[in-house]
Amino acid sequence: MNNKLRISIIYGSTRKNRIGIRFVKYLNNQIKKNGHIPIIIDPIEMPFPFLDKRYDDYKKNELPKSIAKVQKLLKKSDAFIIVSAEYNHMPPPALINILNFYYKEYDRKSSCICTYSSGDFAGIRVQSPLRAFLAQFGSPPIKYGMFQPNLGKFFDNDGIPTDEKDAKARFDIFFNELVWYAQAYKKNR
Ligand SMILES: Cc1cc2nc3c(=O)[nH]c(=O)nc-3n(C[C@H](O)[C@H](O)[C@H](O)COP(=O)(O)O)c2cc1C
Repeated sequence: MNNKLRISIIYGSTRKNRIGIRFVKYLNNQIKKNGHIPIIIDPIEMPFPFLDKRYDDYKKNELPKSIAKVQKLLKKSDAFIIVSAEYNHMPPPALINILNFYYKEYDRKSSCICTYSSGDFAGIRVQSPLRAFLAQFGSPPIKYGMFQPNLGKFFDNDGIPTDEKDAKARFDIFFNELVWYAQAYKKNR
């Protein structure tokens, strides 16, 4: 059996000077270093309309390219890492928007929620709404995640952390758990 997992990193900031992309780059590199296949789903690289119809409600020949492309990526994924900031204590609207286009693509696949902020609180308040959201998709979140306060100070533009040892220790805790669940679900799906 191929033990490589396809793991989608779903990111939700559409801001011009966004910093969360540094965190995404870090996670992407670490997933590769661990021998798995990362996929980045980024609303700037793949612009989405505001939700009208869900993927399944479109006629195939009417599907906007980004919606069709992301469906294929999600369908092939074995697990999901949600990377979320906190905008007024809620997840970014583009993140919620993308996720809502799909449903069965998440089914019986594990997920993990990683949050961050420019300040001291690491975006931790969006854990609760995102956990409820993912549970409804049939993609239960694991108990661990990576939570990054002061993101702009901790990662450079290429996603390199100022303290690699500390970042890796925190990455390994959640990632090993996510891989365990992803492999267990994959075996039985
Ligand atoms: C509309 C808006 C609301 C914000 N609300 C919060 C908040 O509730 N808590 C927090 O810790 N930071 C908040 N911030 C600061 C963000 O942590 C910071 O802007 C971060 O860089 C956002 O991620 P991004 O750059 O990837 O978009 C807010 C920022 C914006 C733009």
